[in-house]
Amino acid sequence: MDLILASQSSTRWRILSCARIIAKAVSPQIDEENITRSLMAEKAMPRDIADTLAEHKAKKVSIKNPLSWVLGCDQVLDFEGKVFGKPKTQEDLRQSLIRLSGETHRLITANVMYHNTKPMWRHISVSHMTMHPMTVTEIETYVEKSWPDAQHSAGGYYFEKTPHLFSEVRGNWFDIMGLSIGPIAEYLNQHVNGSVFNAPTVAAVLGHPIAHSKSPCMHGHWLETNKISGSYIAIDIPPGKLFQTVKVLIGAGVMGFNVTLPHKEDALALADYQTPRAKAIGAANTLVVDLKGSITADNTDGYGFITNLKVNSSDWFPQAGSALVLGAGGASRAVLSSLIEAGAPKIYLSNRTLQRAKDVALQLSPLIEVIDWEDKERYLSTVTTVVNTTSLGMTGKPPLEIDLSSINPKAMVTDLVYTPLETPFLVQARSFGCSVVGGVGMLLHQGTPGFEAWFGTCPTVDSEVEALVLK
Ligand code: ATR
Repeated sequence: MDLILASQSSTRWRILSCARIIAKAVSPQIDEENITRSLMAEKAMPRDIADTLAEHKAKKVSIKNPLSWVLGCDQVLDFEGKVFGKPKTQEDLRQSLIRLSGETHRLITANVMYHNTKPMWRHISVSHMTMHPMTVTEIETYVEKSWPDAQHSAGGYYFEKTPHLFSEVRGNWFDIMGLSIGPIAEYLNQHVNGSVFNAPTVAAVLGHPIAHSKSPCMHGHWLETNKISGSYIAIDIPPGKLFQTVKVLIGAGVMGFNVTLPHKEDALALADYQTPRAKAIGAANTLVVDLKGSITADNTDGYGFITNLKVNSSDWFPQAGSALVLGAGGASRAVLSSLIEAGAPKIYLSNRTLQRAKDVALQLSPLIEVIDWEDKERYLSTVTTVVNTTSLGMTGKPPLEIDLSSINPKAMVTDLVYTPLETPFLVQARSFGCSVVGGVGMLLHQGTPGFEAWFGTCPTVDSEVEALVLK
């Protein structure tokens, strides 16, 4: 199929690639402002303005490429019958937010397909977007922080960057982004030979901060290698805003989430259903949304931990002996739960803050015995599993100070830290003959259950994806 996207928008081009539709992008070079101005002077409806602009773009490119299928798109923001464009100045942006704050506006996305210089198909989608009321200070902060981005988008916001500004959304993720991919895929399947496309599924990782997250790279790789129609994005959600934002994102058709700090406890609390392992850990890292919008919260950290060890240390059996776990934070809870579930007969838990370890032990299992941080070396000769769940040893953090000279050489030693790939703790364990497993595999394996639930395929954890997340 020879498809041309009559647009310079990298977002629209990316949406087509999410659905695995290959298109050439050609700039239509039309005077959008002039056309909009004259349509507004004629009191044209916002949807007619979007439709006319999409048509102009497709037509212009089709005339030069009559044999190609040409897709033109346009989006306008309609508030009470008035079109809101891209803000030209910060004052424009301020006024636009004052008007839209606390109100519902519509995003109208028009799509027109041309072939042989003639219009073959057109589709208009309407998304209903309700914004939270914003205080004067919130508006000022937003104008100051977001101006570089805001000036490029109608109404002055990018929904994918600031979904927490909204209280309710009824629409589709891709329509909101500016291209109605579902109907386009359907049209191509019916009318263009050889087309077999699916509307992409959307999943996201939510956290604060989120820029450091390896998940988009990992899931993006799996979408690519499995040729799946889908998109996986990172969204920064400020603390305390998870509940409302997940609701809004589900309203926009997002079907799955990974959740990271500081939202893991909230993620469990907001769900309609909780898996037993998420309940036991008291936090969720994976949310699966069903077609009715119900949310199931899971915690796959423990699964990732155990699978990493099974894959990378084939003669390790959790049932073979007791374990020593260092650290009693969030990651430790997942490790402890999964070791107990896998059959570890006893676990010694050591943490700098003793009371924290006692609380965790009390909540999780009588098989956990809390020991003093200073005493941790005394248990090294008896255990068959040793796990560091603290952040000590991570690049930029203090080292984990421990003398492993008394360690049982048959013990398997693992570290959740994966930067560096092999921590000084693991190097020391290796020098005493222990088998060692680095932490990057846990990160990779914890991602597979979510991917399978959202996108329908269980991805492979291999050296290629490992190299990507370590880049
Ligand atoms: P995570 O969710 O990654 O486990 P966390 O909940 O902040 O993160 O827990 C970090 C763990 O590293 C805790 O066990 C912490 O010990 P405390 O409970 O005493 O805070 C441990 N940790 C962090 N810095 C430490 C240090 N300098 N010495 C010993 N333990 C440390």
